[in-house]
Amino acid sequence: MKAFTKYKYGGPEVLQLEEVAKPVVKDNHILVKVMANSANPADWHILRGKPFFARFSFGLFKPKDTILGADFSGIIIEVGNGVDNFKVGDHVFGEMLGGGAFSEYACVPAQVCAKMPEHVDFPIMAGIPVAGLTAYQALITHGKIKEGESVLINGASGGVGHFAVQIAKAYGAKVTAVCSFKNIAFVNSIGAKNVISYDKVNIHEHNGKYDVIIDTHGNLNHSDYTRMGKRGVMVGFTSMGHMVSVLLKKAFSKFTLTQFTAEANTQDLEILASLVKEGKIKVQLEKTFPYTEIPDAIAHIEKMRTQGKVVMVWNKAL
Ligand SMILES: NC(=O)c1ccc[n+]([C@@H]2O[C@H](COP(=O)([O-])OP(=O)(O)OC[C@H]3O[C@@H](n4cnc5c(N)ncnc54)[C@H](OP(=O)(O)O)[C@@H]3O)[C@@H](O)[C@H]2O)c1
Repeated sequence: MKAFTKYKYGGPEVLQLEEVAKPVVKDNHILVKVMANSANPADWHILRGKPFFARFSFGLFKPKDTILGADFSGIIIEVGNGVDNFKVGDHVFGEMLGGGAFSEYACVPAQVCAKMPEHVDFPIMAGIPVAGLTAYQALITHGKIKEGESVLINGASGGVGHFAVQIAKAYGAKVTAVCSFKNIAFVNSIGAKNVISYDKVNIHEHNGKYDVIIDTHGNLNHSDYTRMGKRGVMVGFTSMGHMVSVLLKKAFSKFTLTQFTAEANTQDLEILASLVKEGKIKVQLEKTFPYTEIPDAIAHIEKMRTQGKVVMVWNKAL
């Protein structure tokens, strides 16, 4: 089968499309014919081995995992022993935490997959796992938003941000979104009540008050959270130094600020699938690449200015 492999750390140019052995299904896993993927910042962090400390888990001198990629949607072609919630032919989507998704076939733990809603295309569902789970868990699991609360979402137009705006609205929160001037109409269209353009307003001097602050971009200071919010959730980071400084201040403060790494699980993916089915979240696809151009897709998202998601297609819908 074809797969995008990497044997050293570097930019998208180190990825190569190779013939590799098709995986064999394992217990508690499903074997999926991959139809589409999406690209996430985690892909290029893993590809480049940055930040450096991440190499303690990805491999100190060279990558431990050969095939890149987390998000996928596809069709089950084999089910391993111990899996009773999926069958051959099911259309599924999910997230491969250890990589392996940028590939014709993927052997995936069943517990990080869910069934796709009927009549929804593979590229749409491939756009959801990492960014959708992160947005959902930031707002619901960690932010504990309640109906009627106000939420400020910093970095509202990207993968995580555009899901966060829509999920917050779906759960009855009033959303104020922060994005660049060019994305104001877009974040309004997906449900933000108010929009602050960071090109025009210095967010570090903004004095609005909110129940929850969600920072997907990762440039907010500890004082920004405490000035504007009652509680906060830190999702992204702009530099290690900035993140460490915020976390150090958090350690000496009573303000409730959570920093977390999203976890894939069937239950949360099923909630996201229901929100898609009910029309409460729409996946904005900024660009669709053929699978042969996966390195270009990674280079494209590295600029961190994506509106919604970028997806890559292996197979046209069957
Ligand atoms: N904690 C976790 O488990 C977890 C999981 C997934 C992702 N992440 C992290 O979350 C971050 C966002 O991921 P993503 O997939 O949403 O990335 P993305 O799709 O590339 O979106 C990045 C967004 O940042 C916005 N942005 C750029 N400069 C900004 C600024 N000065 N102020 C506010 N927004 C700004 C951009 O919007 P404009 O074009 O409008 O500027 C863009 O929409 C990344 O750092 C990623 O590593 C963390």
